[in-house]
Amino acid sequence: MQNKYYIETFGCQMNVHESEKIAGMLEALGYSPAATRDDANVIVFNTCCIRDTAEQKISGNIGELKALKREDKSRIVVIAGCMTQQKGAAEALAAKFPFIDIVLGTANLYELPAKIAELKERRARHRGKVVAISYDDNPPIDESVPVARTSYPNAWVNITYGCNNFCTYCIVPYVRGRERSREPEAIIDEIRSLLAEGYKEITLLGQNVDSYGSDRSDGVGFAELLRRIAALPGKFRLRFMTSHPKDLSEEVVSIIAETPNFCKNIHLPVQAGSDRILKAMNRKYDRAAYLGLIDKIRKYMPECGLTTDIMVGFPGETEEDFLDTVDLVKRVRYQNAFTFVYSPRRGTVAATMPDQIPYAVKRDRITRLIAVQNAITEELSGEFTGKTYEVLVEDAPKPGMLCGRTDSGRLVNFAGDRSLVGQFVDIRITGNKASALYGEIVDNG
Ligand code: SAH
Ligand code: SF4
Ligand code: F3S
Repeated sequence: MQNKYYIETFGCQMNVHESEKIAGMLEALGYSPAATRDDANVIVFNTCCIRDTAEQKISGNIGELKALKREDKSRIVVIAGCMTQQKGAAEALAAKFPFIDIVLGTANLYELPAKIAELKERRARHRGKVVAISYDDNPPIDESVPVARTSYPNAWVNITYGCNNFCTYCIVPYVRGRERSREPEAIIDEIRSLLAEGYKEITLLGQNVDSYGSDRSDGVGFAELLRRIAALPGKFRLRFMTSHPKDLSEEVVSIIAETPNFCKNIHLPVQAGSDRILKAMNRKYDRAAYLGLIDKIRKYMPECGLTTDIMVGFPGETEEDFLDTVDLVKRVRYQNAFTFVYSPRRGTVAATMPDQIPYAVKRDRITRLIAVQNAITEELSGEFTGKTYEVLVEDAPKPGMLCGRTDSGRLVNFAGDRSLVGQFVDIRITGNKASALYGEIVDNG
């Protein structure tokens, strides 16, 4: 068991990509990936704290590491990611789980190699663990961190870090700092070399991609960045997440519509359908503005796949507010919705609002909401049957079976050889099960 690492990732795509950076740093130190936790001598948990359920699950998983650590004391257990960056959390984690060796914050993730060296030196002197959190809200962007990518044919590319929006329910601005945009040249260079390496899909990442550049003085905003990406040669797919309804501009919508390489697929979190609740959430748009934006997107791209995030049980949410959300879902007819029960996060404004909703009410509302959305998803899925779509083959989940997505973001399963991963194929849809489509490769030969 020499020099192997295992990374367990929780949370959003931002974390998935950051785990690729953790892997890159560990590989530069001479570590190689292990198949399981048991085979690794460095175990990293890249954590999330967006909801209490996430934190509970992660705490349970960290607890399981105790036995592994007892088995081999030379193992290095690292806890990184958003959970560690909450006020007082790093110390609490270190106290609750004495077998943790390194707690590393989000702002100083790039210090991992230095912290491993520090730990090894301390161990030589029989002295404890390393807790390293930076409370700098505006840390510089380190462009030199190596990346060991695991998501071919897709490549994640950060365009911004952090968030300035302070939606009242959300912990992200507290654990990820202020919004920082990468230099446009750094982004374009990275995409150019990824395409040269053979990546077929680029997904731009930011908490609010539409406000890209607002912290920079070169005048390059999201629309201009997209134009520069559109000018890159070759066939590839571009996706991005997440758009914020208050900032997604008509200019951006029109660029997506007219650029063949850009997927007609927009994730546009609405959160709630009631103006009162949207205001209390500090989302800075109302129901009418949101629905107007959806109309605009559909005018430019009638086939655009629309998905969303919705929360139920925000403080003060009445049955009427909830029914406004259900009504909005029925009007928009999303191809898919990620639905959440509101979870109070310590330090956020909403956590101290009066009229917190009892769990039983939240449970009831989310069950009803999911039923409405499932019926819509099922109906929309049925409309795909018999038609043919271009699909990028993304993975081979089991022998002889492949999966990939349509341009509009629908997941399709079909039979084929794994050598096709990374290629574009035409798939005729034969049926569906809920949101998953099934199909067969069309022989164009
Ligand atoms: N930056 C993105 C998403 C961030 S978190 C955006 O603005 O849309 C992903 C989703 O988690 C959010 O869209 C929201 O629906 C949900 N979420 C965030 N905080 C939450 C909380 N305290 N309780 C429940 N769901 C939450
Ligand atoms: Fe959270 Fe709002 Fe920022 Fe999204 S935009 S990360 S929901 S504060
Ligand atoms: Fe993402 Fe969770 Fe952090 S959703 S930004 S990993 S709190």
